[in-house]
Formats: sequence, C-alpha cells, structure tokens
Amino acid sequence: MTAPGPAPDLPRPRPARPPDPPDLAHAPEPRCPPDPPEPRRPPDPPEPRELPVRRTAPFDPPPELAALREESPLTRLRYPDGHLGWLVTGYATARAVLADPRFSARSEFKRVPVARPGTDPFYGAPALPGWLVDMDAPEHTRLRRRLAGAFTAHRMRSLEPRISAIVDRHLTAMARRGAPADLVADFALPVPSLVICELLGVPYEDRADFQRHSATLFSLDASADQAASAMRELDAYLTDLVLRGRRSAAAEGLLADLAGDADLTVGEIAGLGALLLSAGHETTAGSLSLGVFALLCHPAQLDRLTSGAVPPEAVVEELLRYLTIFQFGVPRTPSQDVTLAGRTLRAGESVTVCLPAANRDPGRFPDPDRLDVGRRATGHLAFGHGVHQCIGQNLARAEMRIAFPALFARFPGLRPAVPPAEVPLGGDMGFYGVHRLPVTW
Ligand code: HEM
Repeated sequence: MTAPGPAPDLPRPRPARPPDPPDLAHAPEPRCPPDPPEPRRPPDPPEPRELPVRRTAPFDPPPELAALREESPLTRLRYPDGHLGWLVTGYATARAVLADPRFSARSEFKRVPVARPGTDPFYGAPALPGWLVDMDAPEHTRLRRRLAGAFTAHRMRSLEPRISAIVDRHLTAMARRGAPADLVADFALPVPSLVICELLGVPYEDRADFQRHSATLFSLDASADQAASAMRELDAYLTDLVLRGRRSAAAEGLLADLAGDADLTVGEIAGLGALLLSAGHETTAGSLSLGVFALLCHPAQLDRLTSGAVPPEAVVEELLRYLTIFQFGVPRTPSQDVTLAGRTLRAGESVTVCLPAANRDPGRFPDPDRLDVGRRATGHLAFGHGVHQCIGQNLARAEMRIAFPALFARFPGLRPAVPPAEVPLGGDMGFYGVHRLPVTW
C-alpha cells in the first residue's frame, strides 16, 4: 500500500470572532465567543465527503460531523490521496470498531484523513521498533505487557505527591515572575514534560531538543521530510540513553528498567521511549491548556470546580470528553470483510474513527455540546478504546486532577490576558490545543 500523496492545503481553523469581543482588561469576568447556534444541517451532502476540519467555535468539532452522524454512524470518506474509505462518527459504532480485532492498527495499512505535505513517514511501512500503537497482536501484546506494570492506577497514585510538588513549583515561579504569563510555556507544557522525564529517566535538561522533535512529529505543517528527520533524531537520542542505561547500574527510571529486559532489543526500548516521551507530554499539555481555556470561558462551570460542588475527577472526565483533543480520530483497517451499522466494509479499506464526533453523540451523552462538569462523562472515548486504549490515561488524569484545582486556588482571579478570540488554537496539529494562552490574575 502506498502512503498518502501530496496533501491539499489544510485549512487553518480559527475560532469565529464574535461580533463585539468584550474588553477583558476591564471586564469583571471573561466571556468567550458564545456557543454557536445549532449547526444548520446542510441539504443531504453528496457522498463521499472529505473529513470536515473547519471549526466554527473554539471547543466544538466541525459542525458537519454532527450532520454526518445524523445521516449514519458510518459514512463514506474521501482521503487526501483520493481513495475511498469510511468515517465513523457514532459512539456505539466507534466502540465496536476499536474493540474488534478484525480492525488492524498496523501502519502498513494505515491512512490518515489529513496528510502533511509529502509522504508521511509513519504510514505505508511496517511499524518502527517499539511503536506498539502501529502493531497488532501478538507483537502489540508482547510490548504492551512490558509497559503495563509501570502505568497501573496504583503506580500512578504513588506518583501524585511528586506531581503535586512539580505543579506547585511551577505555580510559585509563575507568581514570582508576575502577570501576564503564557499558561502553555509556563505551566501546561513543563509540568507533564517534567513528569514524563522523571518517569522515564530522561534528563529534563535535554527538553529543548525532544520538545522540538515531538512538536514537529505532531505538526501538520511540518513536511514529511522534516517529520522523518525529527523521528530519526529522537530515536538517536533515546538509543544513546538506552545504551548508557544498559552500561550503568545507577541509571533510574522506566527506560533503565526496560534496558535490563533481555527480551527487548535496544531499538524496541528506544522506540517505546520515543513514543512515551512524545505522547506523554504533548497530549497532556494540550489537555491542560485547552482545559484551562475552556473553564475560563465557562465561568459557571469553573465555579462548580472551585467551590467544591463537583469533584476534580468529574471535571477532568467531562473536559476530556468535551475537548477530545485527538481531533482527527484514529485510523484502522479491516483485515477481512466486516458488516457494521448495515454497511459492508471490505478488507483493506481505510477507516477513520472520529473520536470527537463519537464523544458528542447525543445517543450516548445527552445535550453533548454543552460543557457540564456535573454530568457522568465516564465511558467517553478521548483515550480510545480496546487493546490500544491509552496506556498513559491514569497519568494524564492524575496530572489534570492535581493541576486544575491547584492553579485556580493559587490564582483565583485568573483570566485571559487577550480577548479569547485572539488565543491561537491548534487546528494545525494532530492534537487540538492552544499554542499560547496569555493569562493575567
Ligand atoms: C490527555 C492526554 C492523552 C490523550 C487524550 C491520549 C489519547 C490517546 C488515544 C486516543 C490513544 C489510542 C490510539 C489508537 O487507538 O490508535 C492513545 C494511545 C497511547 N497513548 Fe495516550 N493520550 C494521552 C496521554 C498519554 C500519556 C501521558 C502517555 C504516556 C505516558 C500516553 C501514551 C500512549 C501510548 C503508548 C499509546 C499507545 C497504546 C497502544 O497502542 O497500546 N498517552 N492515547
């Protein structure tokens, strides 16, 4: 199978600017662009369609996704290289695909519904060593088992004091420097970055390089060549660390533990490290910064958190559902013909499971476009589902559960330092998020 060809110019979604953005410098409470009116359903879209990517409101997925879901949970999708596949927008169908071993995650067959310029280095070829997200059983099972012990709920709970200390240290530094601050650079990015570095045993001093490489990997603006080169550099860096870990008994952290496992090759350990390092900080950083922005834009919901009316874990679950930062979904390929939602998917056809659309399915979450931190949002698909469900989810939850209350307790008057419509949003990244979030207090 060939990898995606040249990409169309991906529209850079920007939030629609409200008619009269309030001047937040003088307003008692920040107000964000009002929730958009119910999207008008376009007259029967001709099938197949390209993946809708243009957002009309900062926190909502493109409105055409809801129209497609109403039509059917499974519709024809035209991929950037012109070939036809399937788009899953319904919650139950998304879960069914992700739980079904007949749908392969192997990168040889994966196609992405939005492509970067050039040939995507991640797809069309066998998985890179250690990149279990691109593998099926039994290779996937073998590698996942090696990691499972490091990410149990119990292990994550034991990390909580350390996460709290890291959060507090960054809040103190922010307070000392004074307003305004960039919540991304000063808080949302360094906190998960430091946590994953400590967990893996990667020197935090090296962050400038690995943060740049992982940002390139996830940026749709980076060319395929740039992404491939970032991947090579990340791999070389981690290979060097693993080799040093194999030589030194003093080395600490998950990478050093894995380095002692004779059943894993150096390439596999380095690949696992690259995957955990990049997935482990970009995603959580996006969820933290976008979560703070969403709460600032929904003051009544924020009050329910700060007053203690709703526990932080419920707020985190609802933010994960509402924001679903894997904005283009996850790719799968049926290894045999499968009948689903009344349609027959042929072996080898590309499938995109659109997680943001599934998490806004009114059949599963009543009034899904409303941020309601008091609802029971459990069962959402922000971390995927099935055997590839996010291995770092307990860590991400712990970081969010600790960071949100601590941030708003330290800065009760926290508000955006620019009109919310001017906050640059990440429609150009695989993970949705904010590039910068200027705040004052
Ligand atoms: C809010 C933050 C996060 C979100 C929204 C998120 C989301 C996801 C999703 C949707 C998948 C499934 C991909 C698929 O099915 O193809 C996934 C897998 C994965 N995630 Fe996360 N993730 C987050 C944080 C983390 C963290 C903190 C780590 C590491 C410490 C991590 C490591 C991984 C790995 C290794 C996989 C692949 C698992 C497998 O294939 O078995 N993620 N994540």
